[in-house]
Amino acid sequence: MRSTSETGYDRLADHYRFFETLMFGQNLAHARTALLGSIPSCDSALVLGDGDGRLLEALLSSQPECQITSVDQSQRMLEIQQQRLSNHPLRKNIIWRQQDARNLTKFANEFDLLVSAFFLDCFTTHDLETHLPHWLNTLRPGGLFYVVDFEEPKAGWKRIRGKICLTAMHHFFRWQTDLPNRRLVDISRALNQCAIEMLVSQSMNHDLICARLYRKLTEGEKEPSRTE
Ligand SMILES: C[S@@+](CC[C@H](N)C(=O)[O-])C[C@H]1O[C@@H](n2cnc3c(N)ncnc32)[C@H](O)[C@@H]1O
Repeated sequence: MRSTSETGYDRLADHYRFFETLMFGQNLAHARTALLGSIPSCDSALVLGDGDGRLLEALLSSQPECQITSVDQSQRMLEIQQQRLSNHPLRKNIIWRQQDARNLTKFANEFDLLVSAFFLDCFTTHDLETHLPHWLNTLRPGGLFYVVDFEEPKAGWKRIRGKICLTAMHHFFRWQTDLPNRRLVDISRALNQCAIEMLVSQSMNHDLICARLYRKLTEGEKEPSRTE
């Protein structure tokens, strides 16, 4: 039985870029690739929920030696990823899997790099607390997690502007994909509970979007103290 989220993203897939540009102009496009240049050469990567595959395409070009597994629940999104990359010389480096990432049990300590863009915000706090550790478990110790997502600006006009954007976005995704959240889930808090350390962070679009690169701690490494 297909979930409403899956059928919603299937339905949205062909117009996804149009809606994104309407709501955010080129801001999400710039944010997705903001820290790609900070990622050292990797042999393997797992990309979660990459939608129409624009980040996947950029990653493939920036990591020519990397074997990439792309997981998305939406069959239509995966088809668009495949079409996008059909003429890419490194296309053979990608394996596609249609799957609910919450049921991803196959991989353990396997990947050098985990990637998610505008994906963690699709989940409830409870889902994140449950599944984020499993997704991080796909990384080998010392592996990297590249995450791009929305964040709530802390104060002032940026916060008011951010709230308006996020409210509009949540209404849209609740309508189209049955997103359970009414407001942005606290992604930073969920990440701060994991055994990872932040290497690089870049806020963009008046603090509405943040790209971060984390490193998964190795066994025995003490968790660094965190301010957030
Ligand atoms: C908001 S879109 C983001 C797409 C893309 N990463 C981007 O940067 O625009 C969320 C993507 O995650 C996928 N997705 C949502 N929930 C998922 C789940 N439980 N398992 C796998 N993919 C999921 C959707 O099908 C969609 O492609």
